[in-house]
Amino acid sequence: MADSGRRIRVPDLKAKKERGEKIAMLTAYDATMARLLDQAGIDVLLVGDSLGMVVLGYETTLPVTLEAMIHHTQAVSRGAKRALVIADMPFLTYQVSESEAIRNAGRLLQEGGAAAVKIEGGRPVVAVTRRLVELGIPVMGHLGLTPQSVHLMGGFRPQAQSEPAAARLIEDARILEEAGAFAIVLESIPAEVARQVTLDVGIPTIGIGAGPYCDGQVLVCYDAFGLFDTFVAPFVKQYASLGQEIIAAGRAYAEDVRAGRFPTLEPNGPPGKPREVPE
Ligand code: KIV
Repeated sequence: MADSGRRIRVPDLKAKKERGEKIAMLTAYDATMARLLDQAGIDVLLVGDSLGMVVLGYETTLPVTLEAMIHHTQAVSRGAKRALVIADMPFLTYQVSESEAIRNAGRLLQEGGAAAVKIEGGRPVVAVTRRLVELGIPVMGHLGLTPQSVHLMGGFRPQAQSEPAAARLIEDARILEEAGAFAIVLESIPAEVARQVTLDVGIPTIGIGAGPYCDGQVLVCYDAFGLFDTFVAPFVKQYASLGQEIIAAGRAYAEDVRAGRFPTLEPNGPPGKPREVPE
C-alpha cells in the first residue's frame, strides 16, 4: 500500500515489514538533497555520521561532533516533508553515561528535528537503548560493520564471517529488539546471516552490504549517486555519475568564463525558475 504522501513515522516501518513492503533508506546531509530524495519517495533519510567522510573529508567517522550532527540534521529536517528523519549519534555521545546519552539524543530530536536516533553496537548499548526508548526516544540499532569501531576491527572489514561471530550478532539483534529498538541496520555481513536476523526479529532490518533478504536497504547517497570516489565499497550500486557530471559542468563553466562566453548581454538570461521571495 502506498503511503499517500503523508509523513512516514517510526511505527510505519514495522507495518511495512508486516506487509512485506521493502523500505528504501538513503543518507542525506543537507536540505536540498533531502528535498530531492523526499520527492523521489525515499522512506527514510538517515543523517549518517558518514557525514564526516563524504562531506567533511575525514578518513573515519570518529571526528564527527554532536554539534555537526545537529547542524546537518536541522538542514535535512527542513528539506524533508514526508520521509522519516533519523540522526546518527556520533562517537562518544552515547557510550560515556546514560545521562549524557539522553541529553545528546534529546538534542538531536529537540534541536535537530529528527524523529529517532541510531546508535552502533550490540550488548554494550542495550542498557542505553532501553533507557532512551523508555523516555520516548526511538532508537535504530546498527550491527555488523560498525564504523565507529574501525580501529578495533582493523579497518572497514566485513563482519560475522565465522559461526560464533554470526551467532553473537544474531543474538545481539534479538537483545536489541527486546530492549525496544524499532529497526536495525545490518552492515557488511553475509546475506545468510542477515536473512536469519530478518526472520528472527519482528522489527525491520535495513541492510547495507548484507544481501537481499533484509526488510529494507540503505546506501550513502554520495556513493549511490557517484559523488564520493575516494573509496567505493564493493556492495555499492551507483545509480548516477554525478561526480563526473560536476567535473564536466565545472570545466564548461570555466571555459565559458575564460572565453568571455558567460555572462552574455541577453536581456532575460537563460531560462530558469523564478525565485519566490517570501512576503
Ligand atoms: O553513517 C552512515 O551513513 C551509516 C549508514 C552507512 C548506515 O551509518
